[in-house]
Amino acid sequence: MNDLIKILRYARDLWPYYVGIVVMSILMSLTALAAPFIIKLATDLIVGSIQTGNADVSGALWLAVALFGVDVANTFVTNYGGYLGDIMSIKLRAHLSERYYYHLLRLPQGYYDNELTGTIINRLNRTITEVTQFLNIFANNFFQMFLTMILTLVIVAIYSWELALLLFILYPIFMWLTAKTSKRWQKLQDRKNLQHDIASGRFNEVVSQIRVVKSFIQEHVEFRHFAKRYQKTVVLTKEQSNYWHKMDVIRRLVLNVVFFGVFAYLFVYTANGEFTIGEMVLLIQLVNMVRFPIFNMSFIVDNTQKAIAGSRDYFSVMETEPDIADARGAQKLKVAKGEVVYGGVSFGYGHEKEVLHDIAFTVKPGEKVALVGESGEGKTTLTSLLLRLYDVSAGEIKIDGTPIHTVTQTSLRQNIGVVFQEPALFSGTIRENIAYANPKASDRQVEAAAKAANAFEFVGKLDKGFDTQIGERGLKLSGGQKQRIAIARAILKDAPILILDEATSSLDSRAEKLVQEALNRLMKGRTTLIIAHRLSTIAHVDRIVTIRNGRIDEVGTPAELSKTDGIYAQLLELQMGSTEAAKKSLQKFEITT
Ligand SMILES: Nc1ncnc2c1ncn2[C@@H]1O[C@H](COP(=O)(O)OP(=O)(O)OP(=O)(O)O)[C@@H](O)[C@H]1O
Ligand SMILES: [Mg+2]
Repeated sequence: MNDLIKILRYARDLWPYYVGIVVMSILMSLTALAAPFIIKLATDLIVGSIQTGNADVSGALWLAVALFGVDVANTFVTNYGGYLGDIMSIKLRAHLSERYYYHLLRLPQGYYDNELTGTIINRLNRTITEVTQFLNIFANNFFQMFLTMILTLVIVAIYSWELALLLFILYPIFMWLTAKTSKRWQKLQDRKNLQHDIASGRFNEVVSQIRVVKSFIQEHVEFRHFAKRYQKTVVLTKEQSNYWHKMDVIRRLVLNVVFFGVFAYLFVYTANGEFTIGEMVLLIQLVNMVRFPIFNMSFIVDNTQKAIAGSRDYFSVMETEPDIADARGAQKLKVAKGEVVYGGVSFGYGHEKEVLHDIAFTVKPGEKVALVGESGEGKTTLTSLLLRLYDVSAGEIKIDGTPIHTVTQTSLRQNIGVVFQEPALFSGTIRENIAYANPKASDRQVEAAAKAANAFEFVGKLDKGFDTQIGERGLKLSGGQKQRIAIARAILKDAPILILDEATSSLDSRAEKLVQEALNRLMKGRTTLIIAHRLSTIAHVDRIVTIRNGRIDEVGTPAELSKTDGIYAQLLELQMGSTEAAKKSLQKFEITT
């Protein structure tokens, strides 16, 4: 319940709506309660007329007019209140969604490593739908119902405190029974939500990688996993609903007994002449007005519980503090020279074992340094640390002498251009993708970047040129095309420090040449960290740092390292050997054909 109140406080600026809804609810209750009184007056008047044989037609008519007036007023007030409730809940929805999204975007990479995209999205939808739906119903119905119930009890008490007491007894009994039900119900609901979140997470992943699913003919397996999750929710719902309805039978039986007492009391006392007929009619109406909401309590409780569970999930995400945050009073990073220093850096993902140990090297301003090491040694990790996607566990990284954890993340990342290992693009046009870092870039700038990235030619051949839609994650482009767009994107960003992660690994030699040219243009005058498995791409770097078992093995120029017996020399030999072998097999191929 606290979480629900917290949500209202979250959207404090909606207060005019809250006030409006409260006022409308009071008016709704008053107009609803006026009707039984008018009917009481009418009953007394008619009974009097019959007894005295003196018909007061105009009095009866005026009462009918009053009833009409009250009904019309109730119609308008109800609808205006409903309108306010709708607007409030949609505004609340927008507000909660925006805050959730904003918060998620601030969470560090590490959070995303452990969550499935679809799960995150589903959780957002579910929690916010449940909370806002509840508040909408609450504003439009429940609140007014509660008000009416309280007022009714007060009025009943004026006529007969015994009757009011009988009705009042219902509440503690009902609340007690409900609280008892609710605990178990919520536990089951949490388990159900978990299944939904997992299913949606996988669903999202499968849809976005449908190519893999199809080529490994795993549609059926994926479908079964999905269906299994939903089957579990069916089983859980059976248990939940069964339990709920059993408890509801008990609750309603209690209500039935109490209402039996109430009506017996009313009828007997009226028969004895303690109440007039008009009073009996009034009290029956009032009792019925209380009866309706109490009997519908299960619906109210059901919705309330969902909303409570929803708001709890919502806050569990909102209260995840980003463990990578800007230091207090963090300054902007200003890069004058572009020197990068790794000072004794160690790092491990989460609680897993350390990936990098005591890495220390310097990339001088404008220097191009290649990281070489076997797969999984931590080369990409080293670049993620420079971007501060993760924090180092020991040591520090400095740019121009400033430790990166002391400056704002925004300014740090502004100064680093990246071409990722997988050239991740977004759906949208080529232009939008190239201009991702600077959406205000002019057409000329975008084209210049494309030219420098050797992408201009192929873009020109596309039907719509720079306005071509490239599909989800750039699905409609080839691997090499994607890479060149990614390079153009980095060129346009024009940052003094550059990270290139195996940008040419998946290309044939002609495409590689195009990409290589693009990269050379990109690297000019920038401090660059390059990771490449193809040694041809790094033959021209200033220095190479090799990594073995998470530690620096050697540092030197390509010429120096080719003479030692280190990883670089070994890889060089392997690749030369393989090109020799390739040449030979090609020759054989030519002879035989
Ligand atoms: N997000 C992550 N969470 C946990 N462990 C990770 C994560 N990313 C990478 N690792 C682990 O850290 C190690 C280093 O990974 P990294 O991606 O840095 O290797 P790499 O040198 O770039 O390899 P490659 O040449 O194949 O790209 C690997 O053992 C990998 O399993
Ligand atoms: Mg890598």
